Amino acid sequence: THLHPFLAALPKVEHHIHLEGALSPSLLFTLAARNSITIPTSDAAFGSPAALLDRYNRFSSLDDFLHYYFIGMKCLVKEQDFEQLAWEYFLKAKSDGVVHAEVFFDPQAHTGRGIAYETVINGFTMACQRAEGELELSTKLILCLLRHLPVEDSTTTYAQATADFETGRLAGLGLDSSEKGFPPGAWKEVYGTAKTKGIRRTAHAGEEGPVEYIREALRELDVERIDHGIRLAEDTDLMREVAEKKILVTMCPLSNVRLRCVDDVKELPIRTFLDSGVMFSINSDDPAFFGGYILDNYCAVQEAFNLTAREWEGITRAAVDGSWCNDGRKDHLL
Ligand code: ADE
Ligand code: ZN
Repeated sequence: THLHPFLAALPKVEHHIHLEGALSPSLLFTLAARNSITIPTSDAAFGSPAALLDRYNRFSSLDDFLHYYFIGMKCLVKEQDFEQLAWEYFLKAKSDGVVHAEVFFDPQAHTGRGIAYETVINGFTMACQRAEGELELSTKLILCLLRHLPVEDSTTTYAQATADFETGRLAGLGLDSSEKGFPPGAWKEVYGTAKTKGIRRTAHAGEEGPVEYIREALRELDVERIDHGIRLAEDTDLMREVAEKKILVTMCPLSNVRLRCVDDVKELPIRTFLDSGVMFSINSDDPAFFGGYILDNYCAVQEAFNLTAREWEGITRAAVDGSWCNDGRKDHLL
């Protein structure tokens, strides 16, 4: 569209990107070879990077995607692998105009297969430091808990990460993975502890699951953000509350289409959110799986909603305001 150069030039803040979701089929195969990891041959999709990419075009649901997501990341073994994955994402983010990135990772997906927690966080932290130094891209790491596993598993992981929350190596806590059948309230204790320690909190809610999960995340987990939150528009009172409390909704348009949460970007409640004063940002979620990075998501929204330059400036400002960096850095970002 004619606004593409305008969208490319906007200073972007990304709040919803899973670093493991930036693992491209080509990097997956490279790392698998380097680490002598055998990828399951029973599934023809793992026959080649091209076959895998083709399979990624046909996800039927969140769980269908997660199946490939958790298998693919088995090629990540060494600190250097995690660093390379994150660094390649930061390079792409920089070229898309990202000035600040708050990135998710799933430690349990690695510790559960025998990789040390320290290996994961050391690798990711090195890439973050490099991005700050070499790309002038500020970063925050957000630890996500996996909701398809027992809550006790989350409690163990949270305990492992305590020191990193205290030093600020970790900026916040999130909740992700399968949504339907896993109401967020079960994580109330962990989130309560995090709150007393002054740790920032967010959770995936209302992506594939019902709007009730958004209410529950707000009431039980006292989250400061909602990830996805596309079902929020179904409850006008709750939507008004989210707007009043300036809860940031981190939207991921191409993800929602690929995972069949909506048929088309046009169905997303972006116009409703703008009209209701709901703060939201536009993000890539798992860019290597969903056919686009952050700028592609901005362009898809523009194609669907034909927003004005003023509206884009409002979205840009909300993304900066809703971020978890200090006020000095926020002033610098705009
Ligand atoms: N983990 C990675 N991407 C996710 C998504 N879109 N929803 C829930 N968990 C995820
Ligand atoms: Zn996500």
